Amino acid sequence: MEKKFHIETYGCQMNVHDSEKISGILSGLGYSSTPDESLADVILINTCSVREKAAQKVFTRLGQLKSYKKGKPGLMIGVCGCLAQQERDLFFKGRPYVDLVFGPKNIGELPSLLETLQSERRQLMAHSGPRQEPTFEVETVLRNSSVKAYITIMEGCDKFCSFCVVPFLRGREISRNPHSILEEARHLSDRGFVEICLLGQNVNSYTYENFDFADLLCSLNEIQGIRRIRYTSPHPSDITEKVMDLYGALPKLCTNLHLPLQAGSNDVLHRMKRDYNRETYLSKVEYLRRRCPEIAISSDIIVGFPGETGADFEQTMDIVRQVEYANVYSFKYSPRPHTAALKLVDNVPEEEKSARLRALQDLQKEIQHRLNVSLIGTTQEVLAESSSKKGEELLTGRTFCNRVVNFPGSDTKIGDFVSLTIEKATANSLFGAPLQS
Ligand code: 5AD
Ligand code: SF4
Repeated sequence: MEKKFHIETYGCQMNVHDSEKISGILSGLGYSSTPDESLADVILINTCSVREKAAQKVFTRLGQLKSYKKGKPGLMIGVCGCLAQQERDLFFKGRPYVDLVFGPKNIGELPSLLETLQSERRQLMAHSGPRQEPTFEVETVLRNSSVKAYITIMEGCDKFCSFCVVPFLRGREISRNPHSILEEARHLSDRGFVEICLLGQNVNSYTYENFDFADLLCSLNEIQGIRRIRYTSPHPSDITEKVMDLYGALPKLCTNLHLPLQAGSNDVLHRMKRDYNRETYLSKVEYLRRRCPEIAISSDIIVGFPGETGADFEQTMDIVRQVEYANVYSFKYSPRPHTAALKLVDNVPEEEKSARLRALQDLQKEIQHRLNVSLIGTTQEVLAESSSKKGEELLTGRTFCNRVVNFPGSDTKIGDFVSLTIEKATANSLFGAPLQS
């Protein structure tokens, strides 16, 4: 009987793409994917360690999976991703049902790990040191979409923001050879993919010999068949004028940009070890808007960082009002192992963190709703990406500047570009009707 695997993914796009790489490897070994964990012979949890809450969820989930082992002694349960790299032994302690733990840089070792497990049936662990080369060249990737694809261009981070555990788990920055990136993009284009999203923990610090991030974007723009280029996640300090000048000028570079602010107060930014201040951040936003007025900017924001006063928080709210983000991912500060901020007193009370988060999210919702409503009556080109959860016969896709649009799709195939008139808007999505020709 065909063997099956089930994989669950927590965290960022890097993890989503790592799961696609893992799925590709498992398919190559003859496994097929199943959404139903009870049918699986291999269950993998791809974990995230960026915040405490995501980490806790994994342990709860493992407890639930334990029962499947009773009816199926051959079942293998594995944990991978950042938390696996961080906690390693903790996954085995008191959990004899966990068979395998491996870090993000050990994905390529999966075939040999599974083989060893099958023959030896013992708890097995693979993790890496911070300087180990990453696994860029995984040949088969089982992608979640047939029209848009992630491409890893760099891994690791050298920034060491004081709240962030990533540099300790994903290691130092290493950029991938541009020839290999361009080859992957051409390969994707040959297979009908029309959109690519470049991935890296600190994506715009990409540099390979004298070839920088802007050079890479320009080279990718030349690939026929690729119609949209996005990337995530950049750091505001590393957005150069050379890159900003490409907005509105490089035809395939999508007009959305994730520019994580983290905090609006200079004191807090300093303690976060973000090497910009509110003035330099805002001047970059202004520069970008001058070049490309329609650019949609999104952000990550942390509230309740150690020492954040009510006045500091107001500075964050002030920037949110000024910039009018298209989207904000907001979080309560959560102390993480190894990080410099652990030495600061986590002195903002939990209720205060929650109240600030609520206030920020309410403000953002109002802004998003207003921005989306202003698009009613406009025509937008949308890439049909998948069927929509909002209703049968509806498809969903995104505009060039990354807004989600649901639309009636009976005449449209996944992968088509359609022109839609925007008819309705909520804070999170738009509804469009095909243009009458
Ligand atoms: N606490 C809260 N949020 C965090 N992030 C990273 N580390 C922490 C932490 N310790 C957020 C940042 C980052 C996003 C991916 O997660 O906003 O940009
Ligand atoms: Fe973490 Fe800062 Fe690096 Fe982003 S830039 S991964 S927040 S250390």
